[in-house]
Amino acid sequence: MSQKNKTLGEFIIENQTSFKYTSGELSRLINSIRLAAKVVNHEVNKAGLVDIIGAAGDTNVQGEDQQKLDVYANEKFIQTLTNRNIVCGIASEEEDDFITINSQDENNQNKYVVLIDPLDGSSNIDVNVSVGTIFSIYRRVTPVGTPVTLEDFLQRGSEQVAAGYVIYGTSTMLVYTTGDGVNGFTLNPAIGTFYLSHPNMKFPEDGKIYSVNEGNYIHFPQGVKDYIKYCQMEEGDRPYTSRYIGSLVSDFHRNMIKGGIYMYPKSSKNSNGKLRLLYECNPMAFLAEQANGKASDGFTRTMDVQPTELHQRVPFFCGSKNMVEKAEEFMRNAK
Ligand code: AHG
Ligand code: MN
Ligand code: MN
Repeated sequence: MSQKNKTLGEFIIENQTSFKYTSGELSRLINSIRLAAKVVNHEVNKAGLVDIIGAAGDTNVQGEDQQKLDVYANEKFIQTLTNRNIVCGIASEEEDDFITINSQDENNQNKYVVLIDPLDGSSNIDVNVSVGTIFSIYRRVTPVGTPVTLEDFLQRGSEQVAAGYVIYGTSTMLVYTTGDGVNGFTLNPAIGTFYLSHPNMKFPEDGKIYSVNEGNYIHFPQGVKDYIKYCQMEEGDRPYTSRYIGSLVSDFHRNMIKGGIYMYPKSSKNSNGKLRLLYECNPMAFLAEQANGKASDGFTRTMDVQPTELHQRVPFFCGSKNMVEKAEEFMRNAK
């Protein structure tokens, strides 16, 4: 069968044996994410039709307004993973604390924990711009059959077993890695099946797109200001093009296909930037590295950062390898 006619279901089965741990548990887990993605996709697509857009009137643990679809997506992913009893713990950007699953059940031999940003770019929902879901999977470090602890979630990104995102865009795609490259699957909404449309995705080594919220320019560190000016300079293949959707998943997806860098630096207003290490940066960093790209906080590889808290934020520079390295050079040399 041609690679391109392959469905996600077939791909998961075929690749099961190449996983490091082959109990089938990880395959079942990715299947559940696939199912939840379809359910959330259905709801996101109706956003303009039903009274589901707008704020839910609640704020999450980080003091941000929760959108109704944030709440919906959070519930659907947690429900799907919980009901099917395939993980031992879940941490979500929308939950104050991690969730322990079936800790009373001695037969619960589940090894994996999942961390999710159920709806990324949620401020874009009301204006019909692409949003996404980001997920990250680790093997627990505490013994199976016991309740999960914080330690199971505070693992370095380099320990990830799998990571990916769903992009609810002009078409809906699921893009993921299990540490053996990155593959993208596009949903055929008529029959509800994901097909392998983007096998072995790679960031071009160089790119011509820079993505950053330049409204924060005056608050950025000098190295970031210098790099932005470098991007805008008339020289060689520059100036680069500026593209910023305000939805990490969408900005990352475009940059991976076309070549580019995404930056959410620290600023004089936010000393660690805005993005969350565990729910956003680490999974994107794993995907980036698996696709020949790079991800760092400007100095240190993202996946080497030892997390200290669930909702920790870090500065994030991610994308085409040569572009990230150039930005790091400006960070190092900044006066
Ligand atoms: P979320 O919707 O999950 O809170 O994430 C939004 C994030 C990210 O997706 C996006 O790139 C960034 O916030 C945009 O922030 P600014 O509006 O500050 O540029
Ligand atoms: Mn997000
Ligand atoms: Mn979110």
